[in-house]
Amino acid sequence: MIRGRDGTLQASFPFSVRETAPRGGREFGAPVVPRFPRTPIPLPEERDPKRRSRMNKAVLGIETSCDETGVAVYDLDAGLRAHALYSQVALHAEYGGVVPELASRDHVRKLLPLIRQTLAEGGLSVADLGGVAYTAGPGLIGALLVGAGVGRALAWALDVPAIGVHHMEGHLLAPLMEDPDLHPPFVALLVSGGHSQLIAVRAIGDYELLGETLDDAAGEAFDKTAKMMGLPYPGGPHLAKLAEQGRPGAFVFSRPMTDRPGLDFSFSGLKTQVLLAWQKSDRSDTTRADVARGFEDAVVDTLAIKCERALDATGMDTLIVAGGVGANLRLRAKLAERAAKRGGRVRFPRLAFCTDNGAMIAYAGALRLAAGQHDGATADVRPRWDMAALPSLGGNAGMGNGE
Ligand code: KG4
Ligand code: ZN
Repeated sequence: MIRGRDGTLQASFPFSVRETAPRGGREFGAPVVPRFPRTPIPLPEERDPKRRSRMNKAVLGIETSCDETGVAVYDLDAGLRAHALYSQVALHAEYGGVVPELASRDHVRKLLPLIRQTLAEGGLSVADLGGVAYTAGPGLIGALLVGAGVGRALAWALDVPAIGVHHMEGHLLAPLMEDPDLHPPFVALLVSGGHSQLIAVRAIGDYELLGETLDDAAGEAFDKTAKMMGLPYPGGPHLAKLAEQGRPGAFVFSRPMTDRPGLDFSFSGLKTQVLLAWQKSDRSDTTRADVARGFEDAVVDTLAIKCERALDATGMDTLIVAGGVGANLRLRAKLAERAAKRGGRVRFPRLAFCTDNGAMIAYAGALRLAAGQHDGATADVRPRWDMAALPSLGGNAGMGNGE
């Protein structure tokens, strides 16, 4: 699809295709130029001017950026109507990490049944949907295309608007989904398998990057360290579980980049320190748990120190934590303890909404659709996408009531 000079969308096919001629047709190998109508295709809201008033209805959210297929329905008035998740962990476990092509194929297999299941569990039909939101990036391109293709096609068929959501904005807004008292300004710590970022959030969509990792993301460091110590994929939760049995202080690792000013992180050197300590050790089960505890404490302390710095630097008193590593119980406890000491507050999404899920995409999409934003008729994805480039929604209006 391309956009014509008048702003309407036009079907187009800019190149010819060589394919075998249909039975009884042209000579084999002759170029076939498909004929598509050149008539402008209006966007849903152009076809139906009342569309905008229907935008606050239930929004279907689709998450397929990596190895979880997530689907949910969020309504800004009624809250979360339904959500379901299918994890590909078992599929990738034997390879010790996510295999992108297998991930895409499994999303293809699971997405439509999961949408049907989610709607049925919420007592909904597709006719109840007022919009569709899908993760458009960042993530694995093939995996993203599955959700974007299905989401965009469904919206087109239902004649409702669709929006591509930034995966990390989904994570960032997840704590707000069920907490009506929570709204910007706040500092957000986003810690997932691909990101470690501190962000000043002045309004929804108004994101200033304060600091980020210079090498491995926090979740990546958890996963790689766990793998080095022979733990199964995905390493983060396994390492955290093992650390519960470890003795604090038996192994003490450095708190990277906390000895100098700044809000950036670096976890790669810490990972190497842990590897050396592990290789030199007796590699017993007790030692494995002690090393895991030493590593977890180092990451948690480092994140906590940088969060306090970010709060000091911005003069804000609310911290929100999101992304898979936000499910780490020691991190949650440490940040809660520090917030209580400072007189500020820290908020997390429920555990299931720290890691990838469809609810956060439905919620972020519902907010943007309610503000009148939507995407065109193409299913565009962005494997890399700077969150600071997102348009601001300004103010805090229309953030919904949560469940
Ligand atoms: O947000 P997420 O589900 O996916 C990405 O967007 O990356 O985050 C997954 C990351 C993985 O690296 C995983 O090991 C880590 O979050 N993770 C944890 C815990 N649960 C998940 N890391 C530490 N402790 C946990 N309890
Ligand atoms: Zn994520």
